[in-house]
Amino acid sequence: MNVQQLKQQFTEKYGDNSAEIRVFNAPGRVNLIGEHIDYNGGYVLPAALEFGTTLIIRERQDDEIHFYSTNLTYEAVIKVGDIGKDKSGEWIDYPVGVMVEIIKAGTNITKGYDLMFHGEIPNGAGLSSSASIEVVTAYALLTLEEGKVDTVEISLLSQRAENQYVGVNSGIMDQFAVANGAEDQAILLMCDTLEYKHVSFRTGDYKLIIGNTNKRRGLVDSAYNERRQQCDQSLAILKEQLPSLSYLAELTPAQYSELESTLGDDILKKRTKHVVEENARVLASVDALSSGDLTAFGELMNASHDSLRDLYEVSCEELDVMVEEARKIPGTLGSRMTGAGFGGCTVSLVHENDVDRFVQEVGAAYKERTGLTGEFYVCGVGDGVKELKGE
Ligand code: GLA
Repeated sequence: MNVQQLKQQFTEKYGDNSAEIRVFNAPGRVNLIGEHIDYNGGYVLPAALEFGTTLIIRERQDDEIHFYSTNLTYEAVIKVGDIGKDKSGEWIDYPVGVMVEIIKAGTNITKGYDLMFHGEIPNGAGLSSSASIEVVTAYALLTLEEGKVDTVEISLLSQRAENQYVGVNSGIMDQFAVANGAEDQAILLMCDTLEYKHVSFRTGDYKLIIGNTNKRRGLVDSAYNERRQQCDQSLAILKEQLPSLSYLAELTPAQYSELESTLGDDILKKRTKHVVEENARVLASVDALSSGDLTAFGELMNASHDSLRDLYEVSCEELDVMVEEARKIPGTLGSRMTGAGFGGCTVSLVHENDVDRFVQEVGAAYKERTGLTGEFYVCGVGDGVKELKGE
């Protein structure tokens, strides 16, 4: 649906009033490499997608906030004074959580609003539909309430909404990528200091293909928290040897080899090895991309997947099958799971001449081997959150 159609749907839903209808958009994200690194204080390399969440918003004359989505059936109305009083367990907890954090950070919500969300990101696919809703809400409300519109602050505030209000213990990567993406650029983010730079992601004849396994990510929350705890445990043990260590990803591979035996437990060794090596792979990827060596970048993507499968153990049968089939296509330089794991999506870098073949052959083999129908999106790298003006 284009912006005009969305605006029309908005007025059909909410009627006319004299206030201006404003339109904002935040993308989804794909992580190119650097998985399960953000909460370990290292480097990640995500990129914003060309599709995301559009928010159509207009001030009301009263103190009611109306929530409506073109994708989901649940709708709600809350009073400005009741923001954050009751959690619904529904999708509106994301925008409401953001409102709570905006108020805590010092910008009051002074009036009522009509909100209509239109999402293009498949839910639960690991492409950050929730971060996209959070960030677009924060950006729009801070703009309309004349608060400080700073995309780094917006990422942090959105992450707090997710951690504290929604109750999911995610790191900063998703919100940061959605808020700070730029066309044809990946984002090299240092998750400890939040220093970041854009890295050119022009891949010439090669295309990114996102493959959705359509496997529901059932286990993801508990397993995610378990991985975080294991990393904390490792850090506590390693700190006894190296008191200055604040995060696992600060360890170089050489330091890790020296200290590995102190961890004792095999699981902790595997988790930590993944973190240390994956962090190094992100930096090697930036070098490869800077020198235009896509073959080297593809190999790093492959190594990342294998480590997530064997050491961090967050892959699953469906992701492994899709990656395995993807690598059989001659034009595939690299293929890996992306996001938290246990389902969701893969990302592959594929020569444009082989894209059709990829979609057909990987799709067919995936269906045959898993019984599930995969979906594929050939996508470019888009912009971060913004207002869509003049459309
Ligand atoms: C999820 C979380 C992110 C990050 C990834 C794994 O997407 O929301 O913060 O930890 O998993 O890299």
